[in-house]
Amino acid sequence: MTLKDRLENVAVLGAGGKMGSGISLLLAQEMALQKLQPENRSRGYQLTLMDVNPEALKGLQEYLQAQGRKFAQKNAETLKPLLPGTGSAEELETQFVNHLTAMLNPVTDLNAVGNSRMVFEAILEKLELKVRVYKQLKANTSGETYFFTNTSSIPIKELDKQAGLEGRIIGFHFYNPPAVQKLVELIIPKNIRPDLPELSRELGKRLGKIIISSNDVAGFIGNGHFMRDGLHGIAEAERLGNEMGLAAAIYALNRVSQDFLIRPMGIFQLIDYVGLDIFQSILKIMDPYFPKETLHSKLIDKLVEKGVKGGQFPDGSQKDGFLKYEGGKPAGVYDPESGQYRLFGEGDWTAKADEKIGPLPQGHAPWKALLKDEHRAAALKTYFANLTAAGTPGAKLALAYLKRSKAIGQQLVSGGVADSADDVNGVLMNGFFHLYGPVNEYV
Ligand SMILES: NC(=O)c1ccc[n+]([C@@H]2O[C@H](COP(=O)([O-])OP(=O)(O)OC[C@H]3O[C@@H](n4cnc5c(N)ncnc54)[C@H](O)[C@@H]3O)[C@@H](O)[C@H]2O)c1
Repeated sequence: MTLKDRLENVAVLGAGGKMGSGISLLLAQEMALQKLQPENRSRGYQLTLMDVNPEALKGLQEYLQAQGRKFAQKNAETLKPLLPGTGSAEELETQFVNHLTAMLNPVTDLNAVGNSRMVFEAILEKLELKVRVYKQLKANTSGETYFFTNTSSIPIKELDKQAGLEGRIIGFHFYNPPAVQKLVELIIPKNIRPDLPELSRELGKRLGKIIISSNDVAGFIGNGHFMRDGLHGIAEAERLGNEMGLAAAIYALNRVSQDFLIRPMGIFQLIDYVGLDIFQSILKIMDPYFPKETLHSKLIDKLVEKGVKGGQFPDGSQKDGFLKYEGGKPAGVYDPESGQYRLFGEGDWTAKADEKIGPLPQGHAPWKALLKDEHRAAALKTYFANLTAAGTPGAKLALAYLKRSKAIGQQLVSGGVADSADDVNGVLMNGFFHLYGPVNEYV
C-alpha cells in the first residue's frame, strides 16, 4: 500500500494531548490537501481522533478549526484553484475548514480506530499502558495497519515484542510543539517491515519535517543527550550549593547554561518546560537500560514529591518549577531548603551570585542575536576561545558543561545510539535549537 493510500484513513491516539493535538493538526492539513486534489476526489478520507478524555476532544476540534482557518489564510493561492467558486477570502477559509472538519471522526473508544491504515500513538509515556493499547489495536486492526509511536524514551522493540506487532511499528518522534518543530527522530527497530522506514521518510517530507534517524536505544538521541545534560546541571548546582546555597546555585547554573553557553534556555528552565515529573519518569524508563550509569536525581524526586513540577497550563503558559515565572519569564528560584520561591528582585542574592560567577567572556552575544548571524561560526569560535582563556568561576563551569555535553554526544555515537556525531549535532540543533552541536571543536 502506498503512502497516498494509507493517508486515506488515519488515526491519532491521545489526540487531545499536547503532542497528539499537534500531530492531528499536521495530519488534518495534509489529508485535507490530498482530498482536494482532483485525482483524489473519489477517495473517502477519514481522520479518527481518539482520546479517553471527551473534553480534550472537544477542545481539539475547536483548535483544528481555528488552525485550519489560519492554514487557509496562509495558503489561499494554493487553495483557490482547488476550491473553485469561492469568492471572498472568508468564503475560501470557511469552505476549507468545513472540508477539513468533514474528515474528522472524534471517538473515545479504541475499537473505533479498527480500519485505520496508519495509527499515530501519543498517549502517556507508560510502557504497560502503551503495550495494553497496542495489544487491543493488534486484535482490532488488519495486519496491514502501521503504527507510529511518539514515545520519547521506550525502545520500539519492547513495544513490538510485548504487543506482538511483528514489525509494524516505528518510532516517529515529533518534538514539542509538533506543528512548529521541524525535527522528527525516526527510530527503526531491527525486525521492521521492509517498506515502513521509507514510507515514514516520505511522510516526514510531506509534513515538512527534518528526519534524523536514531537507533533503537532507550531515550534515543534527544533524551539520550538531554537527560544526561540535565543531570550534569543538577549535580553541578548541588555541588556549588554547598558554597552559596542551593537556590543561588540553581540560579547560577541556569545562567551559565544559558548565557555562557549561548543556549536558548538555561537547563533548569528547560527541565521546567518539559516538566520535572516527565523528566523523572523518562529517567526511570531509561535507567535500567544503562547499568553502568545512574540516571536518577534525588533532587528531582524531592521536588516532584512536593508538587513542584513545572509543565504548562492548558493555555500553554509555563507553570512554576525550579524557577518561578511571571509573564512567561523567570522571576525567582525554588529554594529546596526552605520550600519557598526566592524572587530575583528580593535583596541582593542574585547580584552576589552574578559576582561570584563573574562577567561573560569577551565576544559574547545572546543566542537570539547569533541565531541570524551569518558569521555565527566564526563568532562562536572566538567566543569559546575567550571563554577557555577566561578562568573565571562562570567560565570554568561553562567549560565543564561543554566538555560533559561533548562526552555525552560521543557516548551516544560510541554506544550505538547515533550513527554519527552529525546526527547528534543535528538533533540538538534542530530539536533543541542549539546554535552548535555538542560534538564540536570548541572544547
Ligand atoms: N510533551 C512533550 O514535550 C513530548 C515531546 C516528545 C514526545 N512526547 C511523547 O508524546 C507522548 C504524549 O505526551 P504528551 O506530552 O502529549 O502527553 P499528554 O498528557 O499531554 O497527552 C496524553 C493524552 O493521551 C490521552 N490518553 C491517556 N490514556 C489514553 C488511552 N488509553 N487511550 C487514548 N488516549 C489516552 C490523555 O487523555 C491525553 O489527552 C508520550 O509518549 C511522550 O513521551 C512528549
